[in-house]
Amino acid sequence: MAPRASQWAIPLGASFGIPLGLYITFLFLGGFPFFQRHFLYAHRLNTLFWHDLDKPEYWGFARNQVTPFTLASGGESLYAWHVLPLRSFLKNEDRLQNTPVGYSENITATESFKILKDDPGAQLVISFHGNAGHIAQGLRTEHFHTLTDTSSFHILSIDYRGYGKSTGSPTESGLIQDGIAAVDWAINVAGVSPSRIVVMGQSLGTAVTTGVVEHFAIKGTEFAGVVLIAGFSNVPSLLSSYRGAGFIPVLSPFRSIPPLLRLFQGLIVDRWESASRLAEIVRLTRTRLRLTLIHAKNDLEIPCHQSDALFKSAASATIDQALDDETFMSWKNQRSTRFDDGTFITTVTAEPDTIIRQELIPYGGMSNYHNARPRASA
Ligand SMILES: *[C@@H]1O[C@H](CO)[C@@H](O)[C@H](O)[C@H]1NC(C)=O
Repeated sequence: MAPRASQWAIPLGASFGIPLGLYITFLFLGGFPFFQRHFLYAHRLNTLFWHDLDKPEYWGFARNQVTPFTLASGGESLYAWHVLPLRSFLKNEDRLQNTPVGYSENITATESFKILKDDPGAQLVISFHGNAGHIAQGLRTEHFHTLTDTSSFHILSIDYRGYGKSTGSPTESGLIQDGIAAVDWAINVAGVSPSRIVVMGQSLGTAVTTGVVEHFAIKGTEFAGVVLIAGFSNVPSLLSSYRGAGFIPVLSPFRSIPPLLRLFQGLIVDRWESASRLAEIVRLTRTRLRLTLIHAKNDLEIPCHQSDALFKSAASATIDQALDDETFMSWKNQRSTRFDDGTFITTVTAEPDTIIRQELIPYGGMSNYHNARPRASA
C-alpha cells in the first residue's frame, strides 16, 4: 500500500519546520543591536572553561616562548600574547629558562620583552584574529607556530574587548580602538618601528586590520606590510553570501528579493566598510605600501569573491579612472599568473612604491590558513 500524504506530514514538518522556525527567530533577534553583535562577534563562544590561556605550553610552545600580559585600550584591559620566534628563543634559551613562566604583571621586566626591544632589527607581526573564540582557540596557535618556526617574526596577538579574558564588549569602533592600542604598544612601549611591523588579520581580523591601518595612514604612518587572510568587503555584502560554520545561511535566502535584502542590510549596526577603507589607504600612501590579500578557493564560510571585491577597490585606487567590470578583468588578467586548478596570483605595482598582491590558494577553507605568511620585504 502506498503511504498516504499525511504520513509524511509530521517528519516533513519537523525537518523543515524546526530549522525554519529557528531561522526566523534568528532573523528577528538579529534586528536588535545587542543580539546582532552577539551573532557577528560570537565573542562568548569560547573554551575558557577548560583551557588556561596563561599556560601556552599546553599548545606546544616552549617554556617562556609565549608571554601572556595585558595592555590598556581606552578603559578596557586587553589580554595579549607575545610569541618569540623559535630562532630567538633558541639563542636565548638559558636566559629564558630561569625566569618565571606564565602571565606577566610587568611585561617590560621580562626577558622575552627585552629580546624584542633590544634588537634594532626585530620584526613583528601584529595578528588580529577572526570572530568567536579566544587568542588560542582553533587553529590560531597552529598559525603562530607556522610563523614563528619558519621566520624570525615575533608575534603580538590580542583578544579584543569582550573576547577571552579581555574586559568590555565588542563594537566596530571599540575593536578598531583595541587594534590601535596594540600597534601603539608595539611602537611606543616595545620600540618597534612601523617599518618593521606587519599588520595581519584573518576574517573579522581583516576588517580590524584595515580600520587600524587606515587610522595610521591618516597620520602618515606606514607599515612593513599589511596582510588580509579571508577578508570581506563589508558586513552587509558578506551576509548576503555568508554561510555560518559553512552551511547556515544568513541573508543569502533574500538575494532574490532585493527590497527585503536591503531592509535587513539597513539594520546592520557595525558595517565594517573594508573595501572603501582599503581604497583610502592606497590613496593616502606617501612612500610605500605592501598589501597582500590571501583567500582559499575552498573557503565555504567567506567566499573568495569577497577578496576579489577588496582587490578591485584597492587596485582601482591606483589608477585614476573607474574601469567597468569587463575592462577591469582584462586589466587584472594582464597582471595575473593563472594556474590549472583555477587559482591565481595577481600583482599590481604603482607609484609611490606600492605593491598590491592577491593570491587565491586552493586549500585553507574553514580558517585553516596554516601556510599564510607575511611578505614584508618583497
Ligand atoms: C616594570 O619593570 C620595569 C623594568 O624592570 C621597571 O622599570 C618598572 O618600574 C616596573 N613597573 C612596575 C609597575 O613594577
